[in-house]
Amino acid sequence: MHGEQPLRLGVLGSGKGSNFVAIAEAIRNGSLQAEVGLVVSDVAEAGILQHARDRGMPARFIAPGAFRTKLDPTAEAAFIGALQEARVDLVVLAGFMRILKGDFLKAFEGRVVNIHPSLLPSFPGLEAWKQALEYGVKVTGCTVHWVDQGVDTGPILAQRAVPVLDDDTVSSLHQRIQEAERTLYPETLARLTRGGWATPGRAGSRT
Ligand code: GRF
Repeated sequence: MHGEQPLRLGVLGSGKGSNFVAIAEAIRNGSLQAEVGLVVSDVAEAGILQHARDRGMPARFIAPGAFRTKLDPTAEAAFIGALQEARVDLVVLAGFMRILKGDFLKAFEGRVVNIHPSLLPSFPGLEAWKQALEYGVKVTGCTVHWVDQGVDTGPILAQRAVPVLDDDTVSSLHQRIQEAERTLYPETLARLTRGGWATPGRAGSRT
């Protein structure tokens, strides 16, 4: 799909952008053979947009519309159009807080990845680190997975375990999981760029 050309990433995020920074740094230091085609956020003041602009990378805010947890149809079309115009090969969700379904996933079928702050299938959904702490598990972590129509349900590409310490608080655990994310996501993307990737499937997606 990408031959000799570096893989073009379209990065979507709603927040501070620490995963994006780790990905951008991996590209800069040559450990990830890719380029950022576009960063898009549904939040005008999101840190991720500023981090992209600071690095001279194209960054756009696209208003999400009236819904709280998804894009309205006009916004969805605008996201698709912007990413297609930027000729992205792979859509990388890095803290994007809206559920993508239907037309978006059809437009980028088998080409959307996400990072989630737990060892899926445990603790899907919001504040997964808090769910893990409250449940009392002794090990949690983070997961990079293909995005399908469900919420945090797509085939798993990679995981990293993070121990839950006796004196962990919600914020200390969250911080350690995010540290693990910042190595796992660029490493997994690098693996994808080296091996290409198969159409996602529970048995066949691993590269
Ligand atoms: C990460 O913890 C990721 O697991 C979740 O959203 C958070 C984004 O953080 N999906 P950041 O914006 O990359 O700092």
